[in-house]
Amino acid sequence: MATAALTPTPIPPHVDPALVVDFDYTNPPGLAELGDVYRAFDVLHNGPDIVWTPHHGGHWIATRAPETKWIQETHQTFSSTEKAPPKGSMPFMPPITCDPPDHSRYRAVLNPYFAKKQIEENYTPKARAVIVELIEAMKAMPEKACEFVSTFSTVAPLMIFWDFVDLPYDRREDFLGWGRHMAGRGTRDQRGAALMATMQYLSQLLDERLEAPGDDVFTGISQWRNNPRFQSRDELVGMAQLVFFGGQDTVASQMGFAMWRLCEQPELQQRLKDDPRVVPAAVEELLRRHGLSNTVRLLRHDTERHGAFLKEGDLIMTANALSGTDDRAYPDPFRVDFDRGPVPYNSLGNGPHKCIGQHLARLELRLFLEEWAKRMPIVRFDSSRPSPRSHAGGVIGVDHLHLAWD
Ligand code: HEM
Repeated sequence: MATAALTPTPIPPHVDPALVVDFDYTNPPGLAELGDVYRAFDVLHNGPDIVWTPHHGGHWIATRAPETKWIQETHQTFSSTEKAPPKGSMPFMPPITCDPPDHSRYRAVLNPYFAKKQIEENYTPKARAVIVELIEAMKAMPEKACEFVSTFSTVAPLMIFWDFVDLPYDRREDFLGWGRHMAGRGTRDQRGAALMATMQYLSQLLDERLEAPGDDVFTGISQWRNNPRFQSRDELVGMAQLVFFGGQDTVASQMGFAMWRLCEQPELQQRLKDDPRVVPAAVEELLRRHGLSNTVRLLRHDTERHGAFLKEGDLIMTANALSGTDDRAYPDPFRVDFDRGPVPYNSLGNGPHKCIGQHLARLELRLFLEEWAKRMPIVRFDSSRPSPRSHAGGVIGVDHLHLAWD
């Protein structure tokens, strides 16, 4: 693999030069030509199980699914107090930037709002209504073609999420912009500006929710200041920012990639139409295939794995963009197979930081597949428009996906 001789971060003495790759996770080599971010990341599967890149201040990357799982689970060695490279680039956002035992006191504030029963009972009708309305509007388009990302996949999850946290839909352009910059797109300055803007917005919102409580998670966070374990206002704003960013891009990306696969393998669309009972298995398989978030951990102490000497203070990335396409973990990993059966995957994390929004994410994906298969004809890539394109970063996603149908 190519070494990055010309990049600014020098290779530290404890890093074996044979493990060094020239790989920028926000702009991996080949992405511009390939269009598909998973294919661009896949080159790392041709090398060692753990590699080091000099980009973003220098960090390790775990390239295989078992290593990623091990890191996610072993908080005693891998601390979450750093979440993105370089060090210091992610603000305090509990619980994701905390380790046990601190982690659990913040998670306890959020947990009740994300319980499976609560999500399914309270949000199924609203989420279904949003999805049906958008699909029917798309189906009625006289040109029988649309750009899926701007028409559906970034709209439906956000409308559902904003309803979940009771935020005004008329601020959607601001919310979308802040979310995009935080997810690794945009410049350092844009990221800083997005953070500042959300901090100010959410700080004011939390005061309002304390005065006029609702039954949403921001109300729950605002009430943390009445808890004897409350320490500072930063805890409140950090928790609110995490929920805000965690719920924005992720489901949108997942739906975008799901539709990409349904066009690549149109027999899957027919299967969903013929046998709606396959939908829950389809959701799991699409989640397996599409890990989205690439976060890091900070080494608490020295350790060695697969010939890589990981030193206290180093950063290591758990690259979920690599986990689902690990050919050692899954036969024919790029292929979506609804009959693959229940298989473990890392896309929603493992251990203490396992995604708190998983039930909301699954609900939205299930309703999307159910209603899409019921209402839409078989769709295909629109050959008269540019091919689909995706982007890399902390949360990967689809830029555009042009669809056509008869
Ligand atoms: C398909 C959609 C989603 C995917 C693939 C996903 C993925 C993940 C992953 C991998 C983690 C763990 C990160 C780590 O260990 O460093 C995580 C944590 C988290 N996610 Fe999600 N997520 C999704 C949807 C959501 C939604 C809809 C929300 C909120 C509404 C959400 C909120 C969170 C929060 C708050 C955490 C931190 C949990 C903790 O630190 O205890 N996620 N997610």
